[in-house]
Amino acid sequence: MTDKKQTPPTTTDAGIRVQSDEHSLTVGPDGPIVLNDAYLLEQMANFNRERIPERQPHAKGSGAFGTFETTQDVSKYTMANIFQPGATCDVVMRFSTVAGERGSPDTWRDPRGFSVKMYTDEGIFDMVGNNTPIFFVRDPIKFQQFIRSQKRRADNNMRDHDMQWDFWTLSPESAHQVTYLMGDRGIPKNWREMNGYSSHTYSLVNAEGEKFWVKFHFHTDQGDGNAYLSQEEADKLAGTNGDYHRADLFNNIRDGNHPSWTLMWQIMPYEDAKTYRINPFDLTKVWPHEDYPLIEVGKLTLNRNPTDFHTEIEQAAFEPNNMVPGVGLSPDKMLMARGFAYADAHRARLGVNYKQIPVNKPVSPTHSYSKDGAGRTEKVSDPVYAPNSYGGPSAQPHQHEAGLWYSDGEMVRQAYTLRPDDDDWSQAGKLVREVMDADGRARLVSNVVGHLCDGVSEKVLVRAFEYWRNVDKETGDKIEAGVREKLGGESKAPGMASALSIGGK
Ligand code: HEM
Repeated sequence: MTDKKQTPPTTTDAGIRVQSDEHSLTVGPDGPIVLNDAYLLEQMANFNRERIPERQPHAKGSGAFGTFETTQDVSKYTMANIFQPGATCDVVMRFSTVAGERGSPDTWRDPRGFSVKMYTDEGIFDMVGNNTPIFFVRDPIKFQQFIRSQKRRADNNMRDHDMQWDFWTLSPESAHQVTYLMGDRGIPKNWREMNGYSSHTYSLVNAEGEKFWVKFHFHTDQGDGNAYLSQEEADKLAGTNGDYHRADLFNNIRDGNHPSWTLMWQIMPYEDAKTYRINPFDLTKVWPHEDYPLIEVGKLTLNRNPTDFHTEIEQAAFEPNNMVPGVGLSPDKMLMARGFAYADAHRARLGVNYKQIPVNKPVSPTHSYSKDGAGRTEKVSDPVYAPNSYGGPSAQPHQHEAGLWYSDGEMVRQAYTLRPDDDDWSQAGKLVREVMDADGRARLVSNVVGHLCDGVSEKVLVRAFEYWRNVDKETGDKIEAGVREKLGGESKAPGMASALSIGGK
């Protein structure tokens, strides 16, 4: 029994003490409930509004708090205060799957989100990355389509491998990321032993105004890096412990095993981008390390669990447009589009004043001209407009503006201009032949065979075999042989055919 003397009195949200945690107000013990039981009404009304919309992609995840420290001198690349030697700041991180809903199992095959929010003295810097250095598509107009192909069908609201492979095989630029996804990175053992990447190219500018291109790599300090689960282990856990990764992170931090990552940068001199053999802004490509080696920057450590998941993790709003002076965009079309998408999603999901939710609030002072709106809690003071002659905040014309990247040219709807090594297949092939060992390649083949034998129609299968032969001839042949053997011939799965005959489209 709880000792009532030790516990604080229950109150309403207005701070008024309540008489009972257990009994509604009624007319006599057996009579009707009365409408003036304000506490009962508040509890019911609040309960009905407890759920907020889940994130459209990346709905399932968890996170923790910690610190970042710049341990090396990289000041020749950036003026950002947080990347000066010895600078530190608090961080919140969130890990996630992409396609699954808020209650879906942690161990479904998917890339993993790797979001970092740094509370710097120059404002918030968010790096919203993944556990893979590249992505499925390179033009943001395909992103929504891609995500829909990974989520659920219109008719039966089920996920569908036919739909996934249909999209992938019609989008050859996906080959590199699909190879990662079907390999060991598709099911990490846990979030602690996983690397994270900006994937995009960002720009940096130093105090002298010199510009550089940069890719962020967070290398795990736990184990050998990128530990994985087998498909069988993951399938079993999906049924027995859907929160497996969530629990691993929480329990390790609780027990004092604080996971850390070493931040590394790949730096490309500004002028190199014009002539490099690969388009350095194409999100489906890596920069080979032999061309642009990793340099060490700092250390990120997670050391504190959330105490209220909803306010600290579910309401965390990460957005690639949060950049501090010294860090900027690049001509990567995906990165530029993400600059709109996230803040828009947050306004829809959390309301226009989401940056006042404590987890999203900068630690540096804010003097913006935003005013009013639902959920606004911070007071504004006059003058509420600019320009003004009453001493309101004034912009700093000589301040380097974070996030800027200038371009000019005519308006076109075209793919990036192709460079000599810009084909869709060779980096995926290199990943199979040079990065994976024989066991890794065998797991890749087995994972793809298993996936393709689960509901993929003959029409799409044939394209999938060709897709894999384009990545690597031997791998493609093995996948085809494996699928044919497992299916005992052709696929009988109807694919979209069943929907089309019902829907009559
Ligand atoms: C979440 C859009 C590409 C990583 C989201 C959300 C949206 C979105 C709307 C939900 C945000 C929320 O409600 O809080 C897009 C668009 C993209 C894109 C339009 C391309 C044009 C990418 C790429 C990466 C990525 C390339 C990784 C490199 C993430 C992560 C989250 C997320 C990690 C979860 C953030 C969190 O932990 O709260 N994305 N995304 N996205 N996205 Fe993207």
